[in-house]
Amino acid sequence: MKVEKIMVVGAGQMGSGIAQVCAQAGYTVTLNDLKLEFVERGLGVINKNLSRNVEKGRLSADEKEEILSRITPSTSLQDAQAADLVIEAAVENMDIKTKVFGQLDELAPEHAILATNTSSLPITEIAAATNRPEKVIGMHFMNPVPVMKLVEIIRGLATADEVYQEIEDITKRIGKVPVEVNDFPGFVSNRILMPMINEAIYTLYEGVATKEAIDEVMKLGMNHPMGPLTLADFIGLDTCLYIMETLHEGFGDTKYRPCPLLRKYVKAGWLGKKSGRGFYVYE
Ligand code: CAA
Repeated sequence: MKVEKIMVVGAGQMGSGIAQVCAQAGYTVTLNDLKLEFVERGLGVINKNLSRNVEKGRLSADEKEEILSRITPSTSLQDAQAADLVIEAAVENMDIKTKVFGQLDELAPEHAILATNTSSLPITEIAAATNRPEKVIGMHFMNPVPVMKLVEIIRGLATADEVYQEIEDITKRIGKVPVEVNDFPGFVSNRILMPMINEAIYTLYEGVATKEAIDEVMKLGMNHPMGPLTLADFIGLDTCLYIMETLHEGFGDTKYRPCPLLRKYVKAGWLGKKSGRGFYVYE
């Protein structure tokens, strides 16, 4: 069945970005979160992004309104009853994800595909919380979603070929580039990115250089748009720690041990840009 209605669960940074790009591509979108204020915050970000596109002459004011009118706020998972595809972008926690997927499995129509935007958790385990593992798949968007081209598509052990194909087609329709990967801890993106960020934190921890120097080396020396410590703040230090722990546990290899400084910052509540302080201070 052709996907027309998409429900996005989680209206934070990732969820709101996913809802925006889906609505821009013409899909009817339901944006869901636990509280209306969270959904409204997400819609506010989408509104701001679209307004910038209008100012830059990429969209007309009417087109902006049309896109916004395609997004319906929701605070009940019951709304999954009308969805052809659900993209879950809730917090990175296996207990929460399996609970949400169990509920979605009961509520969503039989034909609906259930996708997760998890950045490192096993798709196969999330799929096992449902009675439709063949219709469960990973759709890993990058932050900021409206800007970044990649969607890492992760097949779980049981994901059906036609489900993979449908998700690949949708990814292209929303203007992104799909890349297929298999279900192993961290997939490809975070298996490579996070150890680099973790090593940058070790480099700071061991006093090899200042945070500014580390970022400058990687920006100017490797042409990265952001230095690794700035990027860690941008992603969220709690997310970075969680992904390192997932790699460490998943592979049982000490090369993935999270840097003690990363743990310390997270324990202090220094979570990066979102909390106003991480490796840098944000006004
Ligand atoms: N939402 C929407 N659009 C945004 C945005 C946001 N949060 N941030 C920037 N943009 C847009 C700007 O409006 C601007 O658009 P136009 O040029 O079309 O007007 C464009 O992006 C460039 O922005 P800026 O000129 O302000 O700044 P910049 O050139 O420094 O780019 C950046 C900002 C795109 C974020 C760039 O610094 C970058 O690519 N950083 C690295 C991002 C990255 O690595 N992301 C992956 C993180 S890992 C992940 O997401 C996966 C995971 O599981 C952890």
